[in-house]
Amino acid sequence: MKKYPDYKIVNLDKLTYAGNPDNLKEVENNPNYSFVRGDICDSHLVHEVMKNVDYVVHFAAESHVDRSIEDGSVFVKTNVLGTHTLLQSALECKIKRFIHISTDEVYGSIKSGSFKETDILTPSSPYSSSKAGSDLLAQSYYITYGLPVIITRCTNNFGPYQYPEKLIPLFTTNIIEGKKVPVYGTGTNVRDWIYVLDHCKAVDFILREGEVGEIYNIGGGNEKNNLEITHKILEILGQDKSMIEYVKDRPGHDFRYSLDCSKLKELGWSPEYAFDEALEETVNWYRENRWWWEKLKH
Ligand SMILES: NC(=O)c1ccc[n+]([C@@H]2O[C@H](COP(=O)([O-])OP(=O)(O)OC[C@H]3O[C@@H](n4cnc5c(N)ncnc54)[C@H](O)[C@@H]3O)[C@@H](O)[C@H]2O)c1
Repeated sequence: MKKYPDYKIVNLDKLTYAGNPDNLKEVENNPNYSFVRGDICDSHLVHEVMKNVDYVVHFAAESHVDRSIEDGSVFVKTNVLGTHTLLQSALECKIKRFIHISTDEVYGSIKSGSFKETDILTPSSPYSSSKAGSDLLAQSYYITYGLPVIITRCTNNFGPYQYPEKLIPLFTTNIIEGKKVPVYGTGTNVRDWIYVLDHCKAVDFILREGEVGEIYNIGGGNEKNNLEITHKILEILGQDKSMIEYVKDRPGHDFRYSLDCSKLKELGWSPEYAFDEALEETVNWYRENRWWWEKLKH
């Protein structure tokens, strides 16, 4: 909305535990913004919303791996069935471009090297397999019906307003509260990290410059293991390693995710935010905005 003040944006969101109107305070009174509370599985509502829309960027999902291990049913419902409902309405409403937001997790784990967009999908968790299912449905709507779909697969996001169950906000807020941080296994699992605004810029870039029917990997170029991240957060908050508590590893825990992002870079996008500064700003944001996360945690 900052970059395109004349665009009219409709935000359809169910406001599950992860959705939070406090995140939208900056835009809620903007006359070009409207909010519809609803479920992407509700085909009637989705059709009504999409009737007057040119472009769809589909972010809505159940997204937390640990929750999917406890119970995958809502993941299948929202991520697979919900995506299907959106695709079908997009077809009926002749949407000009449909960007399906996916994740690096659909490729599964890789010991060395990096996944390209053409690699096969070997997801490990109910979360990542439901996302892989949604990717394939999106692809099928392009191949079968010619719906102008583009799929993006991004690495781990971080930044302000991230629900405090994800690693960086969980660990940051725990330390601010004087609590220990639970590190899975030996803490050596590797993820690539991207600042959320770099992800947003990539999505905007792909919406304009991407080729229909294509898949684009998006990464920050910051591969780090969980202990490295933990140490950095501890250092920013002036705490030491005694705050770390090693806990039993997550079942099926993928060891390393890594993406080859050369396809998107060749098209002209690259990340802008430096990891260390973005992490420090993010940690400081949680330090200064306790009102935002405290009620979500307790
Ligand atoms: N967070 C990451 O690191 C990351 C990385 C790569 C890709 N992604 C993808 O980006 C998207 C957004 O992730 P996030 O981290 O912001 O997730 P999140 O869990 O923080 O937020 C999900 C949002 O979707 C809404 N939602 C859930 N079910 C819905 C439904 N049935 N109908 C309508 N709205 C519904 C929630 O209310 C919430 O606002 C997801 O598709 C996720 O797979 C996330």
